[in-house]
Amino acid sequence: MTNRDATRPFAVITGASRGIGAEYARALASRGYDLLLVARDRARLDRLAEDLTTQHQVHADIALLDLAEPEAAHRLYTAAREFRPAVDLLINNAGFGSVGEFVAMPMARIQAMLRLHVNTIVESSRLFLPGMIERRSGAMINVASTAGFMPIAGMTEYAATKTFLIAFSEALAEEVRPYAVRVQVCCPGATLTDFHHTAGSHPKGPFKAQTAEEVVAASLNALGSGRTVVTTHWSGTLTDWLGRWVPRGVLARGAAWWMRRSKQR
Ligand SMILES: NC(=O)c1ccc[n+]([C@@H]2O[C@H](COP(=O)([O-])OP(=O)(O)OC[C@H]3O[C@@H](n4cnc5c(N)ncnc54)[C@H](OP(=O)(O)O)[C@@H]3O)[C@@H](O)[C@H]2O)c1
Repeated sequence: MTNRDATRPFAVITGASRGIGAEYARALASRGYDLLLVARDRARLDRLAEDLTTQHQVHADIALLDLAEPEAAHRLYTAAREFRPAVDLLINNAGFGSVGEFVAMPMARIQAMLRLHVNTIVESSRLFLPGMIERRSGAMINVASTAGFMPIAGMTEYAATKTFLIAFSEALAEEVRPYAVRVQVCCPGATLTDFHHTAGSHPKGPFKAQTAEEVVAASLNALGSGRTVVTTHWSGTLTDWLGRWVPRGVLARGAAWWMRRSKQR
């Protein structure tokens, strides 16, 4: 659906059908954003788009995309441009977890995770950022995880894709900063969503789980400050600090010990 004349800001949110993505959608609609909500679950997206349109008088549309498919970034870019040529905020949030031994993980699941957390986000950045740079305005939020602050045996590929996303976002933020474009990497700790069910785990980090509302409030509040790495709660700040200052070998063994201990409980 085209929406070219609107004067409201426009955000594209991936993984908007539930959890943190749906919460970004609610928070941005309440701030007057028009929205393109992206995921695979049509029923949930339709319901959310309808609710937001009714409650906030914004324009919310949906795009059904499997972002783990090879051409997903191009499809996302095309869908966004059909809605409106200029995107003010892109939120790359879609993701899923996997808990278990890497060598026992189905190859298809590993490939889907790499495409979703790495390829699609890198390619989307390459497609969406030039327009923002040209307009000297716009922002991108990549949702990573505190798991990206360290190597985690038992969540090996999940943590590694999020480590990539943090490093990618930190460098990219500096490349685009001179053009008044912002890149943020939001790193939630355990958050109460369907994520843990999909990953085959329970939210059992060492700290109390947060709500999606808390994560999104911290992320959107930080957007104005220009901070690149955003954590929520003091536990997120502590995990970030541990990841930067504790020797990698100690961190890797500590995280492996924690994962083994959690499995026994
Ligand atoms: N919850 C946590 O504890 C936690 C902690 C740290 C980081 N995170 C990160 O936060 C982000 C959001 O997770 P969440 O907690 O909100 O989990 P969630 O409730 O399971 O939501 C995941 C979202 O991603 C979408 N998605 C998954 N695979 C997709 C695909 N192939 N194509 C398109 N969309 C896809 C899902 O939509 P459909 O199924 O409808 O496609 C859903 O909207 C993820 O990147 C996750 O890694 C979560």
